[in-house]
Amino acid sequence: MAVTVIENSSDMQRYALNARHEGRTVALVPTMGYLHAGHASLMAEGRRRSELLVASIFVNPAQFGVGEDFEKYPRDMEGDIRIAAAAGVDVIFAPAAAAMYPAGYQTYVDVERLTLPLCGASRPGHFRGVTTVVCKLFGIVQPHLALFGRKDYQQLAVIRQMTADLNMPVEIIGMPIVREADGLAMSSRNAYLSAAERQSALCLCRGLAAARALFARGEHAVTELVHAISSVIAAEEAAVVDYIELRDQLTLEPVSQADGSTLAAVAVRIGKTRLIDNCLLGEE
Ligand code: PAF
Repeated sequence: MAVTVIENSSDMQRYALNARHEGRTVALVPTMGYLHAGHASLMAEGRRRSELLVASIFVNPAQFGVGEDFEKYPRDMEGDIRIAAAAGVDVIFAPAAAAMYPAGYQTYVDVERLTLPLCGASRPGHFRGVTTVVCKLFGIVQPHLALFGRKDYQQLAVIRQMTADLNMPVEIIGMPIVREADGLAMSSRNAYLSAAERQSALCLCRGLAAARALFARGEHAVTELVHAISSVIAAEEAAVVDYIELRDQLTLEPVSQADGSTLAAVAVRIGKTRLIDNCLLGEE
């Protein structure tokens, strides 16, 4: 089936409200495009759970800081339409930035404590941009459910918090990280990596695997587990650590002792590319 592409917010809202009126379940997969198998897995699950599946494609300027990669963020609408169609998407909502943030725009959504650590600490304002655009997308697409990947673990936690705090009638579904055969977490930003950097980038998932293996051998001390990750990453010359942290999986507060549900999260620069990855220590 061909995908319908809608650029205008009012048209999108009318389309979605009409579907709801007919009793159809609406699912939304919010994306910034340059789709890969990770996005396709969200779409497949959305397809399974809904009668109208919408994917948004919008590189959201509000979530990029000064000097970040907004301008060069990879874009490929034709490829995205192909991937979305194959995954069973009915509608792609692809608004223009000027339509999402017209002159005079002045409303933002800010989740407080959960956005302070991890990526929130190194990318000030990032989550304010994410929650604002997701809130707008929920208003426009009117979904019953929305799907997000766990690679952006903190983003998922922040969106869950926003949805609960603002009584939004949207079920938030978190989906497992999709990895390349060698373990690299799929990300649109992997497109920035040279072949050598792509190899170096494996230190993120290998560091996390080292921590999980140490935990499985009975180590619960945070410093030792963090050390297991940092020594794998430090062995990679091209890698510069942004953070390596063990945190409570729900509150994202630091933990004094690790258990199987503890989140291990890393952000590392490989050359000019900032990559993130995470796992729960008790995961296989
Ligand atoms: O994860 C992303 O691609 C973006 O942060 C999102 C959720 C689409 C908001 O722009």
